[in-house]
Amino acid sequence: MSDADRGAVSARAAGRLVPLYSEEEIRRRVASLAAAIRADVGGAEPVLVGILKGAFVFLADLIRALDMPLRVDFVRVASYGERAESAGRVAITKDVELDLAEQDVVVVEDILDSGLTARVLLDHLAHRHPRSLRLCALVDKRERRRVAVEADYVGFVLDRGFIVGYGIDYAERYRHLAAIYTLEGAV
Ligand code: IMP
Ligand code: MG
Repeated sequence: MSDADRGAVSARAAGRLVPLYSEEEIRRRVASLAAAIRADVGGAEPVLVGILKGAFVFLADLIRALDMPLRVDFVRVASYGERAESAGRVAITKDVELDLAEQDVVVVEDILDSGLTARVLLDHLAHRHPRSLRLCALVDKRERRRVAVEADYVGFVLDRGFIVGYGIDYAERYRHLAAIYTLEGAV
């Protein structure tokens, strides 16, 4: 645990942060996800589409682990309110700006939970006629899946728990933590 994370852990009274994935574990998983993506796209220059805000830290590490010519874009999805889980309504509030036609697109998500966000986005982006369209999720929470969607690349599979850190928030907090924690008691 970094000093910054240790400080945050001891400073929080609202909930208890329990270490789940360390910086080193995350680094290893990101490296192997990058290797798998690189092998699949071959010589092509992929477009990585990060889902704001939760994926921004993961995407930043993933593109550097990929270490190959690529382009980056972002979408922003609102699932209404500062809530611990998707409300079931998903709206795209910021669309991609690059032309995805004939591109190899990898959607990068922090957490695949109900699957609603990913389903809506994948269907939306498919209309841009990419050559390929894949989904990369840092954490796959399969337990609460409500719509049929499978990630092509998964960093971690999580059975239960609400997590924060490494870009992932609870009510916009904890994104700065270098590792990933289970937030207990506040959710
Ligand atoms: P879903 O797959 O549409 O249900 O939504 C996934 C999104 O819900 C993620 O991108 C997160 O923003 C949020 N989310 C789901 N589970 C968690 C969690 O454990 N911690 C923080 N955010 C979460
Ligand atoms: Mg969120």
